[in-house]
Amino acid sequence: MKFFLDTANLDEIREAAAFGIADGVTTNPTLISKEGDVDFKEHIAAICKIVSGPVSAECTSEETEGMLQQGREYAKIAPNVVIKCPLTRAGLKATKQLSSEGIKVNVTLCFSAAQAIMAAKAGASFISPFIGRLDDIGENGLVLLQDIIDIYRNYTWKTEVLAASMRSPIHVIEAARMGADIATIPFKVIDQLFNHPLTDKGQAQFLADWHKSGRK
Ligand code: E4P
Repeated sequence: MKFFLDTANLDEIREAAAFGIADGVTTNPTLISKEGDVDFKEHIAAICKIVSGPVSAECTSEETEGMLQQGREYAKIAPNVVIKCPLTRAGLKATKQLSSEGIKVNVTLCFSAAQAIMAAKAGASFISPFIGRLDDIGENGLVLLQDIIDIYRNYTWKTEVLAASMRSPIHVIEAARMGADIATIPFKVIDQLFNHPLTDKGQAQFLADWHKSGRK
């Protein structure tokens, strides 16, 4: 399973890249706005200098024509830019057109298996089911993820399943168990993946014993 960073923060992206786990990056308008008054295209370019894998830049137009304009413009920022379109009728029309022009599209805001089928039919390169946001409303986001993976396995669609809105290590582990192609993970959750109290305790004990025996 590939790891994408679900952040627009350059320090976080650099830190994850240093661990060798930044296979790509997903941004969205909320994540970009957290970075303050940055120029959008320059910021995406800066991310693309750190990460060579897919970097998602999201359209903010609500109309197909506007998404096409933005998509074509953002695709010129760097060869690894992927255009994010929402799972709306206008977004899927834009997905179809941009994909046919050779521009990769990540279809975002997917909350049902039916929507995931429509995105694959439109030629999306990635489908992003939002696991955590379904959990937030009392549904089970992981059930949707499994449904999409099962359905996609029946066909030769090129669309990769990108598990999004990941809130915990359990989400990451379960996505890996199901065979999701990619998980896009906030830095906080990446950090949690390293942790185990017995590792800390064991390491402290080993070093204490080493020094107690007079070694340096
Ligand atoms: C990914 O592409 C999405 O932008 C992201 O996973 C949304 O996550 P959230 O529900 O934590 O905002």
